[in-house]
Amino acid sequence: MLELKDIKLSYGSTQVLNGVNLSVKRGDVVSIIGPSGTGKTTLLKCINYLAKPTSGTITFDKVQMDYQRVDKTAVQAIRLRTAMVFQQFNVFKNMTVIENVMDPLVVVQRKSKDEARAIALQELERVGLTAKRDSYPSQLSGGQLQRTGIARALAVQPDVMLFDEPTSSLDPELVGEVLKVIKDVASSGMTSLLVTHEMQFAKNISNRIVFMDRGVVAADGSPTEIFDSPTSPRLAQFLNSELAFQ
Ligand SMILES: Nc1ncnc2c1ncn2[C@@H]1O[C@H](COP(=O)(O)OP(=O)(O)OP(=O)(O)O)[C@@H](O)[C@H]1O
Ligand SMILES: [Mg+2]
Repeated sequence: MLELKDIKLSYGSTQVLNGVNLSVKRGDVVSIIGPSGTGKTTLLKCINYLAKPTSGTITFDKVQMDYQRVDKTAVQAIRLRTAMVFQQFNVFKNMTVIENVMDPLVVVQRKSKDEARAIALQELERVGLTAKRDSYPSQLSGGQLQRTGIARALAVQPDVMLFDEPTSSLDPELVGEVLKVIKDVASSGMTSLLVTHEMQFAKNISNRIVFMDRGVVAADGSPTEIFDSPTSPRLAQFLNSELAFQ
């Protein structure tokens, strides 16, 4: 359903993406791993055009776009079908939990407040935050904030969820509650791309692992292929250093 071909991107004179190829099927749960600074976040952002590649193409079902000939309608169509969860929680501080979840439904999808509220309540139930619906972000823990962000992303019913290190700014004791929600989302059949340093989690929930290194996809395979028999020395070295932290 999603295919990225030969994506290149540079910031100034720094080439960050050097020709990334990635193909995702409906229902895939793909974890993207790799050293810091290799372009994982940038790659996720290219999908919704928050980062702007200099060349390459994206195909999202029937929508196709060449990044050298950007087409606003195509960008908009792809944005409407993807939702991103950031490391730094994407919630508005001046809105309650339920208002945060309703916001894209009312503002982007032009739903009535009643309809938006009904959907928001369902999504809050899904992430275990029904009781906190009228709290403000300042009254929540990091785990609750991130679950609000996930409910907000899910509420628009995207075809693909993009998670960028959703647990990396959480205290260790709060990581589990957020991973549980992501696992539920992934096992519901939602196509998901997840950038993570949680190796064990990636191995458990993904059907594919993509190893990025220096702006390219350096390995792509099943969790067993990637974790149990890494083919390249760089990958083996990366896995050893990650596992040493866990
Ligand atoms: N907006 C920007 N302007 C300039 N340089 C940027 C910008 N965003 C990212 N970079 C640079 O691009 C490179 C790739 O960054 P990116 O955030 O994609 O890496 P990453 O793989 O997600 O790393 P991490 O694991 O630390 O999150 C880095 O060298 C970073 O400094
Ligand atoms: Mg990153």
